[in-house]
Amino acid sequence: MKKYVVGNWKMNGNWEQNSQLLSNLKKNVHSNNEDCYTIVCVPYPYLVQAKGLLHNTCIAYGAQDVSCNENGAYTGEVSAEMLKDMGCRYVIVGHSERRIYHAETNDLIARKTNACLKHRLTPIICVGETLQERQQGQTFNIVQNQLNGVLEKINKENFNNIIIAYEPVWAIGTGQTANPEQAQEVHKYLRQVLSTYTEQEVSILYGGSVKSSNAQIIFSMPDINGGLIGGASLISDDFISINDSINNI
Ligand code: PGA
Repeated sequence: MKKYVVGNWKMNGNWEQNSQLLSNLKKNVHSNNEDCYTIVCVPYPYLVQAKGLLHNTCIAYGAQDVSCNENGAYTGEVSAEMLKDMGCRYVIVGHSERRIYHAETNDLIARKTNACLKHRLTPIICVGETLQERQQGQTFNIVQNQLNGVLEKINKENFNNIIIAYEPVWAIGTGQTANPEQAQEVHKYLRQVLSTYTEQEVSILYGGSVKSSNAQIIFSMPDINGGLIGGASLISDDFISINDSINNI
């Protein structure tokens, strides 16, 4: 199974800071395992910077969102074809911050996923429950609905080109990580849901307050194939150490 460490910079950084961060990563992120991949998902304006600095390195880059439309009169949107043109290979879709602040529905996320797949970009499809949903015992229902909402609309031959990320909303940016067993039980469940669609191996990443101190234990759970890292992906030492963790498992 392929493993990934994906940095999600969110709306952070500037040219100077990015340049330092990417230069540090270039020097210190080593892939000694051919099944481990390192990716940074940067804000749109800095894709060109990532393209320049990450050329000929083992670090790939991607975007944090994409339009569901092909091209045309959609002011402010960025198409999958444009991302491909910028050298992106991955796109985060359906992040909870987009579901919450931009009212993205499962249907829209499915369309964005298909826009990525059409242009051979790998979508990183995010699912996750809120604290209230967890407290009401709804976790499995919620993540299953979110996952079904997208998987039902994907052509079977594309299952070899998707990544799933389980990100409990209550763990994002809060410092409160799901404990490894809590994450594992949801990942196992998601894997069961996936198995009703495909026999392909699909990597499932965990996201939500992953740090250098907890990465190793989380990544060593059987159904967790890496992480989607927010805050800690902006600090080079932390992101490098999280990468080392995945390479050492
Ligand atoms: P965090 O964010 O690591 O800062 O919790 C993860 C994410 O939102 O992808």
